[in-house]
Amino acid sequence: MILSIGSDHGGYHLKEELKKRLESGGYDVLDRGCHSPEAVDYPDIAIEVSRDVVSSTSDLGILICGTGIGMSNAASRVDGVTAALCTNSYMSRMARLHNDANVLCLGGRVIGEELAWDIVEVFLSTEPLTDEKYRRRRKKVEDIG
Ligand code: RB5
Repeated sequence: MILSIGSDHGGYHLKEELKKRLESGGYDVLDRGCHSPEAVDYPDIAIEVSRDVVSSTSDLGILICGTGIGMSNAASRVDGVTAALCTNSYMSRMARLHNDANVLCLGGRVIGEELAWDIVEVFLSTEPLTDEKYRRRRKKVEDIG
């Protein structure tokens, strides 16, 4: 599985930690920055990761900022992206099962490394449900435009 990952300065340390764990777990990781704790603008990184996902350069994306809010707002504006800000593993399971989220957003200043890793593992190992009711609801969201 190829993953695209990115953060701003607020998520930099968590990104580095998750990248290490993902690579040790055998994932191919495309790191779209930032590459130091110096301040950057989160939308610039959100666009890079979102483009990887919608172009199928990566299978899924992970975005981290201070709260996860800015990243999820920015990524959700890209056509073809369903971004989900998750603060626990139940949310990340549901984000895949019910919402078919393809970009996971995390808050580097909100959750610790172990919880973040659990959320990521659940996200990556859960497949979306294909029942008609879930498809219908997702389509209604897409059609909002
Ligand atoms: C940067 O200080 C912070 O605003 C950013 O990381 C993020 O939390 C925005 O939503």
